[in-house]
Amino acid sequence: MANILILVGTESGNGQLVAEAVRDHLVPDGHAVAITEKAVAVADLAGHDTLLVVCATHGSGDIPSNMLPLHQALERDKPDLSGWRYGLIALGDMTYQDTFCGGGKQMDAVFRKFGARRLGDRFEVDASTQPLPDEDAVEWVKEWKALI
Ligand SMILES: Cc1cc2nc3c(=O)[nH]c(=O)nc-3n(C[C@H](O)[C@H](O)[C@H](O)COP(=O)(O)O)c2cc1C
Repeated sequence: MANILILVGTESGNGQLVAEAVRDHLVPDGHAVAITEKAVAVADLAGHDTLLVVCATHGSGDIPSNMLPLHQALERDKPDLSGWRYGLIALGDMTYQDTFCGGGKQMDAVFRKFGARRLGDRFEVDASTQPLPDEDAVEWVKEWKALI
């Protein structure tokens, strides 16, 4: 069973909703699951073998302010992340065509850059067609958890 840390990047709460909904589908399988909006350094990932990044996009393709320090710390410290596997749920809105899911894409890129192995494809949720992002995320996690 995996020891999963769900990392939430959110400004207005959808990320938290999604994190709680997917947690509720992982725990019954026997996985240990913690959720945090406060990870700011690689030390905060310790003790978890699997990460699930849930990251909204704000501004113009930007990472939410609570997750930005983690991105900056990874770019600065260049840690070896090869011991981690991760999944990625990006929350965005196609109304922002040019920057759709930019925050999640940046987090995906930084984890890959430093050696973490992504399980499955990045999952992108479009708020312009899906006002309830947790519903789509739950469907996705049912397949993702088979990869853990
Ligand atoms: C001010 C503002 C700017 C946004 N900019 C983008 C953007 O550039 N690209 C995108 O895909 N979504 C953008 N969004 C949509 C959010 O990422 C989307 O609504 C998401 O579900 C919000 O998640 P949260 O409640 O966890 O912050 C923006 C939303 C707001 C309110």
